[in-house]
Amino acid sequence: MVRRRVAIVISGRGSNMEALIAACRQPDYPAEIVHVVSNEPAAAGLAKAAAAGVPTTVIEHRRFAARADFDAALDRRLREVGAELVCHAGFMRILTVDYVEAWRDRLINIHPSLLPAFPGLDTHARAIAAGVRFSGCTAHFVRAKVDAGPIIAQAVVPVLPDDDAERLAARVLAAEHRLYPFALRLVADGRTRVVGDTVVVDGAAIPAVGLFSPLPD
Ligand code: GAR
Repeated sequence: MVRRRVAIVISGRGSNMEALIAACRQPDYPAEIVHVVSNEPAAAGLAKAAAAGVPTTVIEHRRFAARADFDAALDRRLREVGAELVCHAGFMRILTVDYVEAWRDRLINIHPSLLPAFPGLDTHARAIAAGVRFSGCTAHFVRAKVDAGPIIAQAVVPVLPDDDAERLAARVLAAEHRLYPFALRLVADGRTRVVGDTVVVDGAAIPAVGLFSPLPD
């Protein structure tokens, strides 16, 4: 089995990164995590990656005068480590069009809502304020617009009447940790094709793709 070489880019806690690292430990998983890059030197995820034996690099965005310069440094490092695919896991950066196009359909992001609803920040508070009955998370290929791009898979969780942003975030995060390894497996297996603005999944039908609805406690 050929394992695709995957880098993960983070800005903070790194729990999705940990879920991907854990998935890649399975003998039949079609990807390996070769490197973790953080734009934040204080990101808690850096120590977690190191503890898991994954090499890390910090590329501090504040040291670069222009957005394109940071993106060029990131691009260089990802190529140096031989990344074929890059997973954004809580990577809170707006990227230049040139960078995104250079990595077209090889950058994957996870966002804690059912996109295209609620892109950007304060996702859970906005979902609660809108009164939606379901929320969830989305794994998608990255485009230059924030939290937009062809959807690979989604997971759904209920929004409960007494939810606050923190409770909903925790329920969605548990789904993220299942969805992201699932989505990366589809891509690494070569089962995804981007057709226009959508993703077609080849091969055997997947029953209820990425539909996880953990019941309330
Ligand atoms: C996750 O909930 C992820 O979906 C979100 O940041 C969190 C990072 O947590 N990403 C975005 O909001 C992207 N727009 P983690 O560092 O523990 O994986």
